[in-house]
Amino acid sequence: MEEKDLKQLVAAMSLEEKALQLTQFPVYEWEGHASAVVTGMSNYGNISCDDLWKSGTTLNAPDGETVLSVRRRRREKGIDDPFLVMFDVIHGYRTIYPVPVAMACSFHTELIEDCACLAATEAKYDGVDLTFSPMVDLVRDARWGRVMESGGEDPYWSGEVGKAMIRGYHRGGIACCVKHFAGYGAAEAGREYNTTDISERNLREYYLPTYRACLEEDPEMFMSSFNLLNGKPILGHKEIVVDLLRKEWGFDGVLISDYGAVDEMRNHGYCATGKECARVAIESGLDIEMASPDYVRYLPELIREGTISEEKVDECVLRVLKLKNKLGMYEAPERYTDLKKRDEVTLSEEARVLVRRAAEESCVLLKNNGALPLKEEENIALIGPFADSKEIIGTWQAMGRCEESVSVKEGVEHLLGREVPCAGGCSGMLFSGDESAIEDAVKLASRADHIIACVGEHMSNSGEAHARADIRITKVQRKLIERLYTLRKKLTLVVFGGRPLVLSDVEKYADAILYVWQPGTEGGNAIANLLYGKAVPCGKTVMSFPRSTGQCPVYYNCFATGRPRKNDLPTMLGGDSWTTGYDDECNSPLYPFGHGLSYAKFEYEELRLSRETLARGGKLTARVKVKNVGSVDGTEIVQWYLHDEFASVVRPLKELKGYERIFLKAGEEKEISFTITEETLKYYTDSGEYAAETGAFEVFVGGNSRDCLKAGFQLVDGE
Ligand code: GLC
Repeated sequence: MEEKDLKQLVAAMSLEEKALQLTQFPVYEWEGHASAVVTGMSNYGNISCDDLWKSGTTLNAPDGETVLSVRRRRREKGIDDPFLVMFDVIHGYRTIYPVPVAMACSFHTELIEDCACLAATEAKYDGVDLTFSPMVDLVRDARWGRVMESGGEDPYWSGEVGKAMIRGYHRGGIACCVKHFAGYGAAEAGREYNTTDISERNLREYYLPTYRACLEEDPEMFMSSFNLLNGKPILGHKEIVVDLLRKEWGFDGVLISDYGAVDEMRNHGYCATGKECARVAIESGLDIEMASPDYVRYLPELIREGTISEEKVDECVLRVLKLKNKLGMYEAPERYTDLKKRDEVTLSEEARVLVRRAAEESCVLLKNNGALPLKEEENIALIGPFADSKEIIGTWQAMGRCEESVSVKEGVEHLLGREVPCAGGCSGMLFSGDESAIEDAVKLASRADHIIACVGEHMSNSGEAHARADIRITKVQRKLIERLYTLRKKLTLVVFGGRPLVLSDVEKYADAILYVWQPGTEGGNAIANLLYGKAVPCGKTVMSFPRSTGQCPVYYNCFATGRPRKNDLPTMLGGDSWTTGYDDECNSPLYPFGHGLSYAKFEYEELRLSRETLARGGKLTARVKVKNVGSVDGTEIVQWYLHDEFASVVRPLKELKGYERIFLKAGEEKEISFTITEETLKYYTDSGEYAAETGAFEVFVGGNSRDCLKAGFQLVDGE
């Protein structure tokens, strides 16, 4: 339809119809369906079911059958407005791939895009028009449960992950929504829904760039976040949601609230009434109120009394109709909903192959003293709560079903063609400390030569509303690992988690640690392939692994401080006195951002710069030789970091500026180059301009953010 036609549709609507077009509730609120995915508390007050039928969009439809039924019954009720269906397709729809923080560890944008395309394909045939993804909140605190949905602690790379997901969703045929705008990941103390306080500088430097980057891929929607930001709910920050998002960035898509967040402005103590919530939201250009009733209840009244203009509301309604129009819903209101095709493509062998590869590339080999890869003839035992668990697909699993996943035991036995001894030993859930099965597990393990302990965090203990104040592996699992260690066998830990867990208590017992995050439907097959070397680990962690919860937040792109500690020891164990640090802990993480081992072995040498000075407008090329000195072919993620040594606003010790995935056969060597220009060096200087300042810079290159080669150069004004 032409825009003029859309405007006529808006003009023909009553005030009540306009308010309903801007209101979204889960479809199960009025078309009851037991199997629906619930992602929040209901708060629709006394809106009549008749009215709910007229709402312009919905979320969380349980299946395509319900979508078709609701669309048909709307038409029968004389409602000819197309009905747009949204859903949280976060890391797969029915065929589930690793949680986003794991996918980010692959540093493989094509793979991320292909998986998003798969998810979109399965979802669109089942009636989904738009996904509430990508989530690109910058995260630094592993106590926060939603780090599992993120792209990690680096703003550049997290933005690249979000862009790849958007490309995949669009290629697969659904629209998407960048969330949670803005700064939700900075929740104080990692506590869910907690206050955020982010300086203007940190917003610009760290917390906003990922959302800005996603705009390059034309997302259809943004979602405003729950968090209080600098004393106001985000919808109270017109300088962000209007001046920055709409005017400076030019976003003209739909802005939707998070679940109930409009009315929650009363809980925040920002609005005294629901009516005030509606006024604040509409004046901030919020187009759709999700799961709270203030627009329906108060917009008509606010217009009639002249508090807000009908034109302001019409702008919002028009944006929603333009979204439906962009998706072709006026010509084809069913869009792609096609249950026959859904059943053909869903959970196909091709889908399984793709998500298995995704899991293989997302796992991170944190430690290996040579215990891995396993030899097929080795006498192993699988021990631990996740050794034979199918509950490994992660939260936000959409239509994924644990029973369709492959456990580690199933994957290993499939690969070996024989049964392997297995015992759970204990639960993997928080607060379940039953130790009664430990000794039986230890006894079974005593007959093996190599123990594979599958431990970590249950999938239900991460994700939304699952922050943790202690992110160690649970006490009973630590007890199990300690007991296994006394057997003096080779011990490999396969660790599941939606966040970087604290592994310091168990790291010393392990010959190898393979971090598998929440690996999805094909998790067991992928882990088996990695354990036996059918696949070679190449993942690099996108979040620092704290040594202890007390270090949180810990992240690589931090500052030197005025008293840097050179020897990285706890003060009580010889750490430099009167320098930045702890009495009882190191400053460094257990495993740094960018860390991940392989069965290959990569050595970096001869970092050379094409020039020692870079003139504005010129370019400088850094070159390094990377050699696979191992006996196994493998993939390495070469990482390039920069440090602006002296600046009008202090710069982080390292900032990731580029990376390159390279495959090297055993013994092969490649020269890798990275081009640096003035643009690479720009940041928001003290004067507020986005510019590069002359002076000394360091360039680092390596296979992680800690162990790097370094070279220096100067940015100068003249030639
Ligand atoms: C939830 C989440 C958001 C999700 C929305 C709809 O509370 O915060 O990420 O997209 O509600 O389920």
